[in-house]
Amino acid sequence: MADAAQTYRPPCANTENLDNGAKPPCTKQAPNTCKGCFLVQYCSRECQIAHWSRHKLSCKSPMMKATWKPNWEMDGRIPAFVAMDDDPMMTIHGRQKYLWGNVPAIDIINRLGNEADNFPAKFCLLFAASGDIRNVVKTFASLPSTYTGYYENVINDRYFYVVARNIVLLLVALNFEPGVAANRSPNSMQSKTWTFGTRSIQIVLRKRMCARLPTYLQLPDGMSAGQAQNIMRLTTLAPERKDYLEKALYSRPPSWHMCIMKFREEGLLLPFGHSRFEFDTPNPQVYGRTLFRSALWPMMDSADPLEGWPAKDVAKKVLPAKNDMYGNLFVYLQSVLVEFCNKLQITKACFRLFNVDAVDLPGLMQQGRIDKFYFDRIETRLRKYLTVNPAVFQDRNKHTAEFMRIFGALALFRAFDKPFNNFMEEQRFEEIGQVGGLKMKPRHTIIEPWPMRLKLNAPQENFDALFASGHIGSERYVEWESIA
Ligand SMILES: C[S@@+](CC[C@H](N)C(=O)[O-])C[C@H]1O[C@@H](n2cnc3c(N)ncnc32)[C@H](O)[C@@H]1O
Ligand SMILES: [Zn+2]
Ligand SMILES: [Zn+2]
Repeated sequence: MADAAQTYRPPCANTENLDNGAKPPCTKQAPNTCKGCFLVQYCSRECQIAHWSRHKLSCKSPMMKATWKPNWEMDGRIPAFVAMDDDPMMTIHGRQKYLWGNVPAIDIINRLGNEADNFPAKFCLLFAASGDIRNVVKTFASLPSTYTGYYENVINDRYFYVVARNIVLLLVALNFEPGVAANRSPNSMQSKTWTFGTRSIQIVLRKRMCARLPTYLQLPDGMSAGQAQNIMRLTTLAPERKDYLEKALYSRPPSWHMCIMKFREEGLLLPFGHSRFEFDTPNPQVYGRTLFRSALWPMMDSADPLEGWPAKDVAKKVLPAKNDMYGNLFVYLQSVLVEFCNKLQITKACFRLFNVDAVDLPGLMQQGRIDKFYFDRIETRLRKYLTVNPAVFQDRNKHTAEFMRIFGALALFRAFDKPFNNFMEEQRFEEIGQVGGLKMKPRHTIIEPWPMRLKLNAPQENFDALFASGHIGSERYVEWESIA
């Protein structure tokens, strides 16, 4: 198995001539990390010196200093997210599509903690509200390579842009040519299967959706990378959101600030010192003709791919330029995707993709006789915010960045058990489970109930890591088991 973190060799950050379109000045390996920022690496002292006039803008940026304060405080203004001299009232900005997810991907099999060696010859997984296929990727990347059985995967989402993206990603991973044809009414269901050795992908879609699939690979006419970035920046760097952005920066370690800003400016998940020269084509999965009809960036300004992957696993792959957070995620994702593709190559598996509301899935599966399956795992998600009264604060300086930071950190100390218990009661979890032949597991074997919650007596570093992750610990997982 190739470990991408070991095989990825960070290139020398002296990319100046390369970015100007001239011949690359340096393609050597780069063992020397800049000790000023730990964001970039160089092959030699010469390259570091040659690049300094440019790099110092990041390395010496006031934003990278522990003393940096948001502008509203320096200007003595009330920040934009405080309404009428009151408590912070955060509003959201941008469209609410979740192309990167906002909770870490999980391996929903976790074989060692469950079936261990008694793994059935046919293993069936149902992702009923899949979202992007992060959990499919993470689950497959974690599979043992010795299994000789067969994986059956049903992957559904009610939004076509999610399904289309999942189809494209799976086809890319399996190296297929997409191509769909049939002659029926635009709303009739159409099924198409691509087979590749011991693996296959079946899609069950309305005919008009099949016809729309290729548009997820086509950019709006003539869209350049520069235009795409400008459109993205209207959301990610909106001037009216400056206070929101600086509030978010202030609760992250100062050493991350420049890579966060760079990511918001460019939207490229790359090591900080990597050349951007070759990245001249907008990604049709984000800017594709159909998704982009309204010419707006599809995600919120706060959307962050770091939230979609387990911080602990990402931390295992750090580059020598350890503060390069997106570079670390890049290396981690490379290794997960390589592992995912490796596992796809060697397993026997079928992926069936649907595009319906989860409620309608059983009926559709029945038509395809998939209802006969016994699913070994069913994964689904709810997006429900529990009402929790915010702590009331009396402080004369409550508009200072530090007060805001502490106010934000307080969320990590809230117990969400009570509102969640009320929610379970209101939604009658127990009764619904019984109807479906399920009961809640007292002991979890896939993921702990509150994985992002701060543990009692947690050391400072756990608090720091959680606070920097942007999660507040309220993310709750529930495991059910079959009564039969
Ligand atoms: C709850 S969302 C939000 C993002 C999620 N927290 C993550 O990190 O991926 C996950 C996905 O569930 C899908 N979804 C929600 N309700 C659904 C339903 N009733 N039927 C099918 N899909 C649904 C949404 O379209 C979305 O892609
Ligand atoms: Zn060099
Ligand atoms: Zn530096």
